[in-house]
Amino acid sequence: MYEEELAFADALAEEAAEIALSLYGTDLEVRTKQDRTPVTEADVGVERMIRARLAERFPDDAVLGEESGRTGDAPRVWVIDPIDGTKNFATGIQIWATLIALLVEETPVLGLASAPALGERYVATRGGGATLNGGPIRVSEATSLDEAFVLAAGESSFLAARDRAWFVELATRSRRTRGFGDFWAHLLVARGAADVALEPELHVWDYAALVPIVEEAGGRVSTLDGTPLREGGSMLTTNGHLHDEVLSVVRNGGRTAGSGA
Ligand code: IPD
Ligand code: CA
Ligand code: CA
Repeated sequence: MYEEELAFADALAEEAAEIALSLYGTDLEVRTKQDRTPVTEADVGVERMIRARLAERFPDDAVLGEESGRTGDAPRVWVIDPIDGTKNFATGIQIWATLIALLVEETPVLGLASAPALGERYVATRGGGATLNGGPIRVSEATSLDEAFVLAAGESSFLAARDRAWFVELATRSRRTRGFGDFWAHLLVARGAADVALEPELHVWDYAALVPIVEEAGGRVSTLDGTPLREGGSMLTTNGHLHDEVLSVVRNGGRTAGSGA
């Protein structure tokens, strides 16, 4: 299902990569938006191109993009983050991607993450499996925290008093930790290179494309409360096996039996 949309999204990713790569590594102007996040000519140019192509090909569908908001009011919504990882993009770090999702009645049925500076393109359709550069991907088999490689974005936000105890417990009980963020942390879990990824706060366009990729690869996503993802909420991605154990560490606020906390 959604083969036509997937081929279309793939062509969009190709064109987006051309625009973004032509600007990557150049002396770009970085403006600060009202929400205090950065934006460049690449973010604006990629979203403008995607909106124009969507208007020609699927004129009845709605579009929600980070840079220009929502257009239309249909049950099918294309959700676009033209450059996820703008701070990386602007400082010459390869971890940035164009994220494209199709939501039907609010369920993400197609997800694509194109990271041309990494040479990685992840795609998934609901029920159709997840791939990286055309090859199938699968989450890891780790079943306990002491085997887990945990990625946390925005570690400083987890060190505030409210979260510090569980975060320290999670970090000290796991096999290895690193501070990768943005789309990549979740997709490293999807392809089995890492086992757990945490984000404190995301918008719909940050996570919509990631959900089908992680789930089709066998993983699980929720907020850190264990509830469904929501606009402005946190995101916990795991290989599935570790999800309940991580949620229990978060819920118990570092007072899990055996932790010594
Ligand atoms: C950012 C990334 C990051 C998240 C930030 C977002 P942007 O997106 O998704 O992982 O922690 O909250 O703003 O601005 O680079 O598209
Ligand atoms: Ca983003
Ligand atoms: Ca963005």
